[in-house]
Amino acid sequence: MLMLVPVVNSVAGSSGGMTIDIPILSSLDLSGIPLPVLLLIVVALVALQSALSYASSVSAVRLQQLVVDRLRSRAFVAILAARWEFVLDSRRSDIAEIATTGANRCGQAMSGLLRAAVAAVLSIATAVVALIVAPLLAGLTIVAVLAFSIGLMRSLRPAHEMGQAYGLRNRVLQSVMLNSLDSLRLVRAHGAADVWTDQLTVAFGDTRAIQLANVRRTSRVAAVAAIGLAASAALLVFVAVQLDVPAATIVVVLVLAARLSASVRGVLSSLQQAANALPAVADVRELTERAVAAAENGGGLAALPPPDPSRPTVALRRVTYRYPDSDEGVLDLTFDIPRGRITALVGPSGAGKSTTADIVLGLLHPREGTIEVDGTPLTPELLESWRRRVAYVPQDTLLLPGTLRWNLVWSSARESVSDEECWAALDAAAAGFVRALPQGLDTDLGDRGVRLSGGQRQRLAIARALVRRPEVLVLDEATSALDDATEAAVLSVLSSLTPALTVLVIAHRSTTIDVADTVVTLESGRVTGIAARTGARGGTP
Ligand SMILES: Nc1ncnc2c1ncn2[C@@H]1O[C@H](COP(=O)(O)OP(=O)(O)OP(=O)(O)O)[C@@H](O)[C@H]1O
Ligand SMILES: [Mg+2]
Repeated sequence: MLMLVPVVNSVAGSSGGMTIDIPILSSLDLSGIPLPVLLLIVVALVALQSALSYASSVSAVRLQQLVVDRLRSRAFVAILAARWEFVLDSRRSDIAEIATTGANRCGQAMSGLLRAAVAAVLSIATAVVALIVAPLLAGLTIVAVLAFSIGLMRSLRPAHEMGQAYGLRNRVLQSVMLNSLDSLRLVRAHGAADVWTDQLTVAFGDTRAIQLANVRRTSRVAAVAAIGLAASAALLVFVAVQLDVPAATIVVVLVLAARLSASVRGVLSSLQQAANALPAVADVRELTERAVAAAENGGGLAALPPPDPSRPTVALRRVTYRYPDSDEGVLDLTFDIPRGRITALVGPSGAGKSTTADIVLGLLHPREGTIEVDGTPLTPELLESWRRRVAYVPQDTLLLPGTLRWNLVWSSARESVSDEECWAALDAAAAGFVRALPQGLDTDLGDRGVRLSGGQRQRLAIARALVRRPEVLVLDEATSALDDATEAAVLSVLSSLTPALTVLVIAHRSTTIDVADTVVTLESGRVTGIAARTGARGGTP
């Protein structure tokens, strides 16, 4: 509108009409330029402004997304490299919430700060123009607007507090959602849906309440700002009339005051949005810092020396481990896992078998004692090198959404795995049922393998471990869901893979234990017996 003032003046001046008398703008003499050209220049300026605004919006979002992705990938990389205890200590739902909704809120915080900065620059520019056009009126306006805005800055603290509360409640919601989905089968079987519906209703209600409260608060601040700034404008007109300021100048100053108030309101609302979302940045940073502090390979990476056939593959020497804030764990474990043999780890439930397996895998680090691999103490920098030699079948079978082939190869640590290798591993794991599937390796397993039976899932997990071509295989009750004949077939293949393969098998069934060369018994976290069973498998050396 202000750009049009010199244009209108040039037209009015050439036709002898009344010109608009505004300082600076009215002194611009454009009378020599034809009207269409002037109007085209105005349109071109607006077009240029729009193009700049388009480019700045796109760049701002791109920058915002880059920062968000950097923040969450740093967090995720740190979590993947953290000690297992860090994972045991963290809630899965917290990590998921912080890396998804939380990271998006980091983007909102950043965009809020960017928009506040842009609006602040616009406000300053508008204030400068207003000061040039009408110093006294503009000065008064600026003082009023500044005083008012500083008063409203107090609303930033509650915005920040609500942002913190929202993060907490959202994590509770995420936790209820994940847990209810994980227990869906049981929920249906026990008809216990009400438990989760009730919890979900409460969690939904909590997040809804905080969001509503936040909207109420921001709307209140916006309304107060609008009313206050309108009152300032009214006061401005009143003062201007008292001072006999020309009407045209009052109009221009009012336009500038309106622009100033719009940009100042922009600064305020953007700052509020940023203050509300900033706790998410703190959450992501806190999670990342905790994960970085728990890094497993703090001292860098090193390679294990080549296998030494004269030594046991793994030797535990007086190993003690206690779970954090707990008396549970294992105590003073001393035993060998001889190279090329099958060692069975047996004992009652809760005796410490899985804990021992986690120690052998380097997931848990002894509080006391040492664990040696081929005679070399297993230090954090050797863990990666050690794990390249090991394959593990956990007690709880894990299958991922995707094809059967993907489930076999994703952890192979190799560039490519041929279909022949997949079939060989499946045959070794007695997973012949895959051959009967119409789509074979391309069969989609559905969400976490829900389309397979427990025993079928276990056999795929064993095949996945074999695809890694391990030197050491750790099986934690990996055949517990198999029938006797299928288990016997799997065990016979495993026996045939020794002595190239060293096996640690955790089991309760005597059929599994029978194939072992050594049986280590654990009770209440202690070794209570080590029995050599040479000849058990027909004299395997
Ligand atoms: N993350 C954990 N935090 C605290 N205590 C734990 C944790 N995991 C296991 N424990 C405790 O450590 C002890 C040994 O557990 P572990 O899982 O090693 O037993 P297990 O011999 O494998 O039993 P099961 O045959 O039932 O699988 C148990 O008393 C258990 O309660
Ligand atoms: Mg166990």
